[in-house]
Amino acid sequence: MKIAMVGSGYVGLVSGACFADFGHDVVCIDKDQSKIDRLHDGIMPIYEPGLDALVESNVKAGRLSFTTSLAEGIKDANAIFIAVGTPSRRGDGHADLSFVYAVAKEVGENLANDAVVVTKSTVPVGTGDEVERIIADTGTSHKVSVVSNPEFLREGAAIADFKRPDRIVIGAEDDFGREIMREVYRPLFLNESPILFTSRRTSELIKYAANAFLATKITFINEMADLCEKVGADVQDVSRGIGMDGRIGAKFLHAGPGYGGSCFPKDTLALLKTAEDYDSPTRIVEAVVKVNESRKRAMGRKVVDALGGMEAARGKKVALLGLTFKPNTDDMRDSPAIAVAQTLHDAGVEVAAYDPEGMELAKPLMPFVTMCGDPYEAIEGADATVIVTEWDAFRALDLAKVKTTAKAPVLVDLRNIYLPEDVRAQGFEYSSIGRV
Ligand code: UDX
Repeated sequence: MKIAMVGSGYVGLVSGACFADFGHDVVCIDKDQSKIDRLHDGIMPIYEPGLDALVESNVKAGRLSFTTSLAEGIKDANAIFIAVGTPSRRGDGHADLSFVYAVAKEVGENLANDAVVVTKSTVPVGTGDEVERIIADTGTSHKVSVVSNPEFLREGAAIADFKRPDRIVIGAEDDFGREIMREVYRPLFLNESPILFTSRRTSELIKYAANAFLATKITFINEMADLCEKVGADVQDVSRGIGMDGRIGAKFLHAGPGYGGSCFPKDTLALLKTAEDYDSPTRIVEAVVKVNESRKRAMGRKVVDALGGMEAARGKKVALLGLTFKPNTDDMRDSPAIAVAQTLHDAGVEVAAYDPEGMELAKPLMPFVTMCGDPYEAIEGADATVIVTEWDAFRALDLAKVKTTAKAPVLVDLRNIYLPEDVRAQGFEYSSIGRV
């Protein structure tokens, strides 16, 4: 199979490298000349564990290449994937499909053979129909089948998620589309990864429904955590207690500072817009979006409380450990750390921070924060230390050193990575999420 991947960002690059690793012949295409130049030099545009090695070995094997020319890249391709960004449109929360549609037009204009065009970007219901129309309008004489194939990749675990998926969803309207996609995913099918064939619109909705459901699960346990703090219960035990029920499942029940990242915030908003457009409100998702937004700011206030309240907090110093929306990524998009830092800054608190990968992208989002070279530098003279992101490096801090380095032994653990009794035994004032 020859595969063209249009868009060499997170999804395109991971998918392209994994398809090449399966033995397909893959060309990754991107308009950004400097990105393609760097990829030729083996420099990844994103941080994803294992990606550089995967790209390197497949380039060496001659199965993976890069180009800025769409016409050249899609030549002879059996499957052309569209994996460009679909950011939230400024102002209304709709997914911005201008990049997807521009690629569809260019594909139609440059098609040199029959091909399946696959939307991998997360796109609202009905986008496949529009892509089909745009390609037909170019007057191409070649047979084209437009297919939906959403990605379910978690940042930081994207390669494993691609190679061992819970399922592959393919929304196709004809046999040509289904056949090519079966070939594309044959290596995974042989691995017994289930492939679910649906209609194109159904597949498009599955992606949004999956992310909205996961966001709901997280938000539900976050509210339970607040209730736990009030009634003196332990949210981790609540998660275990409900998660052991096979109908509920144990995953995505970690209470924390609220979800962030490139998908949940954007996709929940886009689903709300679709629901509004079709006059079929999704009130649960509406509530999830609101609750999650206010939770992030509430986390900042939780830290202010740990400093003794608004009056006492002014002029004090806080160390934030972890800034990215989750560990093993440099992604700062909608990270709870942004709201936490802002709330503290607004309260007149001085903020220092350390993150293993995220500081460069974090800096412009929180220009008032002093970025530090390691956790202990951030903790130096701090009145409170706050764990915002659960990087492994913060799981076994030298608490004795934290105590002597900080001004006050106050630890706020927004990810529940420490045991309250352990930390308190070392003389810390400790607060966490949903545990007393
Ligand atoms: C998510 C989906 O998991 C993936 O399938 C989809 O394709 C893209 O969006 P990602 O955004 O990379 O992936 O991260 P994920 O690991 O799902 O975490 C999302 C957010 O939820 C993070 O902010 C994380 O900290 C938070 N989260 C996750 C919790 O607060 N509790 C949990 O139990 C799980």
